[in-house]
Amino acid sequence: MKRVGFVGWRGMVGSVLMERMRAENDFAQIVEPVFFTTSQVGQPGPDVGHGTAPLLDAESLDALRELDVIVTCQGGDYTKSIHPRLRASGWNGYWIDAASALRMEPDATIILDPVNRSVIDAALAANKRDFIGGNCTVSLMLMAIGGLFKADLIEWVSAMTYQAASGAGAKNMRELLAQMGALHRSVAPLLDDPASAILDIDRHVTATLRAPDFPTTSFGVPLAGSLIPWIDTQLDNGQSREEWKGQAETNRILGRTEQPIPVDGLCVRIGAMRCHSQGLTIKLNRDVPMHDIEALIAEANDWVRVIPNDRTTTLHELSPAAVTGSLQIPVGRLRPMNLGSRYLSAFTVGDQLLWGAAEPVRRMLMILLD
Ligand code: HSE
Repeated sequence: MKRVGFVGWRGMVGSVLMERMRAENDFAQIVEPVFFTTSQVGQPGPDVGHGTAPLLDAESLDALRELDVIVTCQGGDYTKSIHPRLRASGWNGYWIDAASALRMEPDATIILDPVNRSVIDAALAANKRDFIGGNCTVSLMLMAIGGLFKADLIEWVSAMTYQAASGAGAKNMRELLAQMGALHRSVAPLLDDPASAILDIDRHVTATLRAPDFPTTSFGVPLAGSLIPWIDTQLDNGQSREEWKGQAETNRILGRTEQPIPVDGLCVRIGAMRCHSQGLTIKLNRDVPMHDIEALIAEANDWVRVIPNDRTTTLHELSPAAVTGSLQIPVGRLRPMNLGSRYLSAFTVGDQLLWGAAEPVRRMLMILLD
């Protein structure tokens, strides 16, 4: 029976992981889960069905070394500080991590088992020990159109993203709501007056957006009533790091870094709470009838769902409002494009905290405990 430790289980992704593990009764398979903390050593840990035990120090290499599996949602700085020292001390357990820090390390495997179970199994057989959750947009794109990759139908993909505030962190979600509230408050009396002019309302909203006291500490600029066409850091080639991850991680997850499929596009932050959406342009490498494309997409995993390309169904089923908090991955707007018979459009939505973060981590743990 493996001894499993959890670090960063109280943060946003960690809390979603705990919720999912409770919902799936996963803790029944872990005899003595060990909970760590960076700030509250000795305080009672959570009761996940085995009573509570005092929280252990997440910085203690001695305590961590006792474990067979460490699951961390604590973030990249923790990983960079602890992982190298733990490995250097001879610890040979499994490290499952939601942060990006180790993703591109030669010995790491990016985990998304409904898409790359064979890559994970090969890594386990090769005695690999580091299993890292992928970037959220990449994981959600692969959950959506993994069937087309599997059938080797894709020449390239352009993903234009509409990414939620949650990808930037919990503070950013709060700030988005504070911005929405500030905008509404600035025009509330005018909105209540049916005789007010919309251009007058708009002038007030614009003045509020541009005012020095508009709450922008986390995003740096307005997101509510606006958008931010840059996510993560700036690279020398003109891409944002988020855009760079598209091709690098997709091919790594699929185990085809030797023959990479080009993936590129613009990543944009919008005012959704926790669902990332993506508009995809897919260049197919041969002509395929639309019903075959839909069948390949729909059969690829248990969570993907093809949404018929009609207006009413799309409005009700293909949006962050419809998907948030669920594991469903709807894919719609599937149609051939004017660009040519092998160009396919698609639109997909997925919960960034579930398939984009916690769920692949949870499932990797359960693969190890199986
Ligand atoms: N980098 C992503 C975002 C989240 O900023 O939306 C984590 O994968």
